Formats: sequence, C-alpha cells, structure tokens
Amino acid sequence: MKHVIATIGAAALAMALVLPGANAAEEEGEQHTVHYPLKKPVEQDWSFAGPFGKYDKGQLQRGFKVYANVCSACHSLKRVAFRDFHELGYSEEEVDAIAAGYDVEDGPNADGEMFTRPGLPTDYFPSPYENEEQAKVANNGAIPPDFSLIAKARGVERGFPLFVFDVFTQYAEGGPDYIYSLLTGYGEEPAEHVVVPDGLYYNPHFGSGVALAMAQPLYGDDVEYDDGTPATIEQEAKDVAAFLMWAAEPHMTERKEMGFRVMLFLIIFAAFLYLAKKQVWSRVDH
Ligand code: HEC
Repeated sequence: MKHVIATIGAAALAMALVLPGANAAEEEGEQHTVHYPLKKPVEQDWSFAGPFGKYDKGQLQRGFKVYANVCSACHSLKRVAFRDFHELGYSEEEVDAIAAGYDVEDGPNADGEMFTRPGLPTDYFPSPYENEEQAKVANNGAIPPDFSLIAKARGVERGFPLFVFDVFTQYAEGGPDYIYSLLTGYGEEPAEHVVVPDGLYYNPHFGSGVALAMAQPLYGDDVEYDDGTPATIEQEAKDVAAFLMWAAEPHMTERKEMGFRVMLFLIIFAAFLYLAKKQVWSRVDH
C-alpha cells in the first residue's frame, strides 16, 4: 500500500514539474486566444437606464426614422406591428399613414392568388427580403438578423469586477451600448496583424470576429430629423439603438415601475411584520 501511495506521489510530482514547462513552450508559440469584440462597447447615457428609466419618445421617433430610412433596407422587424407605434407618441392618423406607406402581402383572394395592398395598423412590419436565401444572396452570404429582439440578444460579457457592480447599478444597457459602438466603430485601420477576410468590413466593436458582412450603414446626415436635431452619426446611432431597445422591450417602463412598487410594498410589509412579531412575543419572558 505504501508503495502505491509513494508511486502516485512521485507521478504527481513529476507532472507538476513537467507541466509548467509544457505551458511555457506553448506561450512561446504565441497561441493567444483572441477575445471579441476587440474593443469594449462605449457606455452611453440612456434615458431608460436605472430603476426609474423611461423611454424618450422624441428619441424613439428619431430612431424609427433611421430604421425606416436606412436599416429596413436589409433588416426585418417581424414582431413589431404598426399599431405598436402609438407608444412612440404617434397619433391614430400618423400610424395609419406610416402603415399605408408599406406594401404588405395578403391573400389568397377569390382566385387563390396572393396580392399586395397598402399596410394597415394591424399588420406587422414587412421584411425586405422574400426569404432567407434571398437575404443571403444580397448580403455576401450573411443574413441580416431580425431586429425584433436584437437589443436584448447582443451584449458583451463585462467580466470581473464589473459584473458585480452591475448588480447594484442595475446596468442593463449592454445591448444598446453594443449597437451604438458597432455603428460608430467603422472607419479605423486594422492593426498590422489583423487579417480582414474578403468582402467583410473591419469593425473592432463587432462581437464575433474582426470584421462583419455589413458595410458601414451610417455616416451622418442619412436622415433629416423632424425635430431639427442635427443628424450626426453619433446621434443617429444612439437614436436607432434606443429604438431597437424599445422594439425588444416595449413595456420596460411598466416593468420598472412595477418593480419599484413591489420593493416599496415589501419594505413596508417587512416593517409591519416586525411590529407584529414584537407584539406577539411581548408577553414571553426571555
Ligand atoms: C446593406 C444591408 C444592411 C443595412 C442597410 C444595414 N445592415 Fe446591419 N447587417 C447587415 C448584415 C448582412 C449583417 C450580418 C453581418 C454578419 O453577421 O457578418 C448585419 C448585422 C447587423 C447587426 C448585428 C451585428 C452582430 O453583432 O451580429 C446589427 C446590430 C446591425 N446590423 C445593425 C444595423 C443598423 C442599426 C442598421 C441601420 C442603421 C443596419 N444594420 C443597416 C446588413 C445591413
């Protein structure tokens, strides 16, 4: 028995001596794992951040304009209906007009054929492509992702210690920060060791590689804002990111209000429970 233990001990010792050597050899070969994105998202101030955050309707309307004029050429928004735009502060007539501005496929008619008609408030946003294959062909093999949930689907791992602080600061704007940074992150020259594949565009803020299949979509002055806000690239990127957050979570404001009320209720309830407990146990000798 002693021999066995001694042998195992010797083997463990030998491994402990050999393994660090092996690691050192690997490091010399410069096999570093690269983490994407190359650059962390740039944090922005959002009106909807924090426990009392609210959407800024003016900003959402501007963001919608950017989406409608630029992004909707490639990206669908399948889960948002025109009638939802009431929440952006548009009137009945304005929503009707927005919907009517799109052609929607309907049918079949009495002859069994599909037909297109102007959109109604109850319709969902039409997709720019007939199907995924068409989207792929038009975009160099990459499908532009649907926008309905993108602001919640993207985000960058924050790592220690930030994710600990996030619990207290209630940071939940990783998606819009990521989208903002991606849209404003083009234009830099890649470092020498970075190889950009053909047909892709370098962007250090892209979360899954050094480059993506989307060319820079915004340059500034891509739209003219109705409220006179200067349409800089930063402004447009921020507005469209806020709009996408709304699309992904339209009832965020209600959720936060409800959360606050529940916390308030629990605090008051806890105080009453404490008083009740004191009352119940007051006649018992300690
Ligand atoms: C010409 C077509 C085109 C336009 C216009 C366009 N995109 Fe894209 N977008 C793409 C394609 C293609 C991809 C997929 C890229 C990939 O995965 O390599 C993409 C991907 C994305 C992604 C996901 C990136 C990721 O992390 O996977 C976001 C976010 C995005 N686009 C936002 C926008 C916004 C916002 C606009 C409007 C301001 C816009 N796009 C306009 C084609 C387009």
